[in-house]
Amino acid sequence: MLPSGFSGKPGKSRDHYHLKPLSQMVHVIIFPGLGMDATPVPKQAWPPWHPLLLLLLLPGGNTSTCPAVCDCTSQPRAVICAHRRLEAVPGGLPLDTELLDLSGNRLWGLQRGMLSRLGLLQELDLSHNQLSTLEPGAFHGLHSLLTLRLQGNRLRIMGPGIFSGLSALTLLDLRLNQIVLFLDGAFGELGSLQQLEVGDNHLVFVAPGAFAGLTELSTLTLERCNLSTVPGLALARLPALVALRLRELDIEKLPAGALRGLGQLKELEIHHWPSLEVLDPGSLIGLNLSSLAITRCNLSSVPFQALHHLSFLRVLDLSQNPISAIPARRLSPLVRLQELRLSGACLTSIAAQAFHGLTAFHLLDVADNALQTLEETAFPSPDKLVTLRLSGNPLTCDCRLLWLLRLRRHLDFGTSPPACAGPQHVQGKSLREFSDILPPGHFTCKPALIRKSGPRWVIAEEGGRAVFSCSGDGDPAPTVSWMRPPGSWLGRGGRMRVLEDGTLEIRSVQLRDRGAYVCVVSNVAGNDSLRTWLEVIQIEPPNGTLSDPNITMPGTPGPFFLDSRGVAMVLAMGFLPFLTSVTLCFGLIALWSKGKGRVKHHMTFDFVAPRPSGDKNSGGNRVTAKLF
Ligand SMILES: *[C@@H]1O[C@H](CO)[C@@H](O)[C@H](O)[C@H]1NC(C)=O
Ligand SMILES: *[C@@H]1O[C@H](CO)[C@@H](O)[C@H](O)[C@H]1NC(C)=O
Ligand SMILES: *[C@@H]1O[C@H](CO)[C@@H](O)[C@H](O)[C@H]1NC(C)=O
Ligand SMILES: *[C@@H]1O[C@H](CO)[C@@H](O)[C@H](O)[C@H]1NC(C)=O
Ligand SMILES: *[C@@H]1O[C@H](CO)[C@@H](O)[C@H](O)[C@H]1NC(C)=O
Ligand SMILES: *[C@@H]1O[C@H](CO)[C@@H](O)[C@H](O)[C@H]1NC(C)=O
Repeated sequence: MLPSGFSGKPGKSRDHYHLKPLSQMVHVIIFPGLGMDATPVPKQAWPPWHPLLLLLLLPGGNTSTCPAVCDCTSQPRAVICAHRRLEAVPGGLPLDTELLDLSGNRLWGLQRGMLSRLGLLQELDLSHNQLSTLEPGAFHGLHSLLTLRLQGNRLRIMGPGIFSGLSALTLLDLRLNQIVLFLDGAFGELGSLQQLEVGDNHLVFVAPGAFAGLTELSTLTLERCNLSTVPGLALARLPALVALRLRELDIEKLPAGALRGLGQLKELEIHHWPSLEVLDPGSLIGLNLSSLAITRCNLSSVPFQALHHLSFLRVLDLSQNPISAIPARRLSPLVRLQELRLSGACLTSIAAQAFHGLTAFHLLDVADNALQTLEETAFPSPDKLVTLRLSGNPLTCDCRLLWLLRLRRHLDFGTSPPACAGPQHVQGKSLREFSDILPPGHFTCKPALIRKSGPRWVIAEEGGRAVFSCSGDGDPAPTVSWMRPPGSWLGRGGRMRVLEDGTLEIRSVQLRDRGAYVCVVSNVAGNDSLRTWLEVIQIEPPNGTLSDPNITMPGTPGPFFLDSRGVAMVLAMGFLPFLTSVTLCFGLIALWSKGKGRVKHHMTFDFVAPRPSGDKNSGGNRVTAKLF
């Protein structure tokens, strides 16, 4: 995109390169209306006397002189001209200079060939000047340059050719400029570059070929830019990239495959993307990371799906995300995981077996969360744990933390060991302060016991609702769960569900729900259980007895039917006494009717099916033995 055939004359090339192409690039070709100021540099910014100044300052041929304004004595082969209000590169620089520090001056431009005689220069510091123009070839001849610092200038656009000739450069710092665009080939000739810093710019666009040619680049930091997407295509041109840091960006999404092509990447840091709420399951596809940090974002759960293929991952840092739980065994695909950092999150629970499957696990940092406890069962082998950061959590010092007390001398707790937030008699005491012989009542638990429950028998009508209540006492507070023998546990959803308070609710009761239900209250110290029984009453008439559903049960001969009161009576009396009394009655009636000789030998239960709509006056729920 740049015109060919630059003139070597400063004034001419300045106009030619800086003014025209920039206005073309910005206003015609690329993004109009980005708010870039493309007005020509005012003439007065170029001191009218500067050609003269350059003549005076240009190297004089004497290799051992030192420019008067600079300091050449503090280090060998170093020329320090920092903060001297220089507006141009001073002349008379020793040709064997290895370090040239021109930081904090007022340099406004760097023309082609200006430094070309310093073939031994290894480090050039041009930071915190007013450079807005770098002509293609500005660094020509600096074949030995390893480090180039350009941070804190006014650079706007990185086009091709600027860095030509810097074949040995390993570090380029472009932070704190006003760069909006990286054009194709911007870094084309930096074949040795290993580290590129591009933070604090206004970067909105990175052309797909911007990083082409950076075959050795191993570390790239993109921070505080105006990028709204990850420049995946440009990044894919970095075959040697080992560390990528993407910090403080307003990017909502890391799309699937966004970082595909970075097969050598070992370290990925995503820090402070406030709008990142979920990590796409495919977002890390193609990567083989050993360290991953996604910190200070807005993730509400550990993104297991996106992580599961990272079997070489050693360090995972998800600190400062609103993550509330680490569930059991979900980390197990990360077989080589050694360190998990999740400080400053919202953790309230770490499940038993949370770290099972992680054989090399030795560091857990969960400082500054809302954990009340951390159970030994979370770890596959607690003795292998070396570092545990647990301070800043409201820990309850009961029997669940005994293991920690036992290991307290071997564990590295960091600067502040964990402290008890309760129970009251140990409040505020750090784990380190306890002696080996504990006073009675310290670090104890009370096993769970059933405190109260509803009736042992519950009777419900088919289609109705049945409720069993159950609660327990204990320290720590027990959990209530419900089981249907022989062993299926009931969950929190569905037709049969356990409510928050431990009540079991069965909606739309069916005949097959009849049977035993066991309430189990349990805590770490023990469990207690209670069996209850559900009886279900069928309310539909049996098939085939009547074709008109409006004519209900009265007088219907047929199977033995009872409504809820009948059943209650049976249950209350016991079946045998009930049967006995019915038989007795029947016998008496038979005797009596024999005497009268006129009564039908026939007994029936008058049964009125209850209306499902619950019409109280319909006379449902009534069992009467009618005698004829
Ligand atoms: C980049 O973002 C900053 C802060 O949000 C804003 O002030 C600046 O104008 C933006 N620059 C561009 C080129 O969009
Ligand atoms: C973080 O996510 C929550 C919802 O999950 C949302 O309400 C909140 O606004 C988000 N915060 C930011 C800074 O985007
Ligand atoms: C992944 O990286 C590890 C080193 O961290 C290496 O040993 C392994 O071979 C790599 N696996 C693949 C599939 O590239
Ligand atoms: C209850 O405790 C006993 C031992 O006391 C144990 O065998 C059993 O598995 C526990 N049951 C539950 C549901 O926790
Ligand atoms: C009762 O009748 C319905 C259809 O009218 C039928 O689907 C059902 O299987 C019958 N039940 C019995 C026990 O015969
Ligand atoms: C049952 O009775 C209702 C009114 O009580 C009537 O609307 C309906 O048609 C009757 N059904 C039959 C099958 O007779």
